[in-house]
Amino acid sequence: MKSFCETYKNYFLIGAAVNPITIEAHKDLIIKHFNSLTAENHMKFIKTHPEENKFTFEEADKIVALAVENNKKIRGHTLVWHNQTPEWVLQAKSGDTVKREVLLERMKSHISGVVNHFKGKVYCWAVVNEAVKDEGNELFRETKWKEIIGEDYIKKAFQYAHETDPDALLFYNDYYAVKPEKRDKIIKLLKRLKANGTPIHGFGIQAHWNIHDFSLDEIKKSIELYASLDLNLQITELDVSVFGSDDKRKDLKQPTEEMVASRDKFYRNIFSIFREYKDVITNVTFWGVADDFTWLNNFPVKGRKDWPLLFNDNHEPKKALMDVMNI
Ligand code: GLA
Repeated sequence: MKSFCETYKNYFLIGAAVNPITIEAHKDLIIKHFNSLTAENHMKFIKTHPEENKFTFEEADKIVALAVENNKKIRGHTLVWHNQTPEWVLQAKSGDTVKREVLLERMKSHISGVVNHFKGKVYCWAVVNEAVKDEGNELFRETKWKEIIGEDYIKKAFQYAHETDPDALLFYNDYYAVKPEKRDKIIKLLKRLKANGTPIHGFGIQAHWNIHDFSLDEIKKSIELYASLDLNLQITELDVSVFGSDDKRKDLKQPTEEMVASRDKFYRNIFSIFREYKDVITNVTFWGVADDFTWLNNFPVKGRKDWPLLFNDNHEPKKALMDVMNI
C-alpha cells in the first residue's frame, strides 16, 4: 500500500494525535502514513506542569523523539484551556482564588517553560483552546481564565508564546467551528485578535464530526470564511463518528452497512473539499490513528465502541482511506 501522507504531499500534511501507548501500538502506521504528530494529552498543562515548580516532559519527549527520528512535524497542543489544568494554577497561597496578576504570572511561566522546552521541534502551537461559548449572545466561554484575568487572557497567551518562540506558528483552536452560530462568534474573535495586534497566525478547526449533524455545505462555507481572514487554516482533530450526537445506543458490535457507507462517503466528500482549499489548509490531523484507540470509544457514551478513523481495529486501511487516496 502507498503511504497516505506521501500521496498527499502536494496538498497538506497528514497528521495524527498520538500518546505513549499508540506510539508503540500504531508505530508502523504512524511512521508510514503520517508526517505530522500531535500529543493527544501529554503536552497539556496538567501533564507538563503538575506543580508550580515542577515541569514533566518525559512522556511528551517520547512522542517528540519518534517524530524527530522519522522527520515528522510536531503540532503543540495546547497551552491554555479550561480543561486538564491543574488546581494549583487557580489557587492563591491562602487557599482563595488567585488575583489577575498572579494568574498572568503563572500563565506566563507555564507558556514560556513549555514552549521553550519544545522550541525548534514544535512548529506550531494551539495556544488557546475552546475560548468561545457554544450558544447564546456571549462571545466568551465562562472560564476561570476569563473570569480572573479578563478577555485579554487570550492576547496575553499568544504574546507569551510568541516572545518565547518567535518562529512558531500560533493558532487558536475550537470545535463546532462549522456550525453557523458558533462560527460567527469564532470569526468575531479572530478578527478582534488580528485587529488588536495579537500574534496569531492560524485557526485550527477541530473537526470532531459525525455523519448526521454536519453539513458539507457548511463545512465548505466555513473554510471559505476562515480563509478570507488571511489566516493559516488547519484541520486539527478530525474523526467522523458513525453515531449522531443524539444517538446514545450501545448495542452495536459492528457498524451497520449504512453507517459504513455514509461515513466513507462523508470522508470522500470532506477530503474533496480539503483538496480544493489546499492553498489555505496546511495540515489535516486525525484525532487518533486506528479505531482500537479512539477517545470516541468512551465519549459521549462510556464504553461504547465507535469506528471513526481511517484504519480499522486491526490496523488495516478502510475502503474510505483507499478512496481518499484515489480522489
Ligand atoms: C478536545 C481537545 C482535545 C481532546 C479532545 C477529546 O477536542 O482539544 O485535546 O481532549 O477534546 O479527546
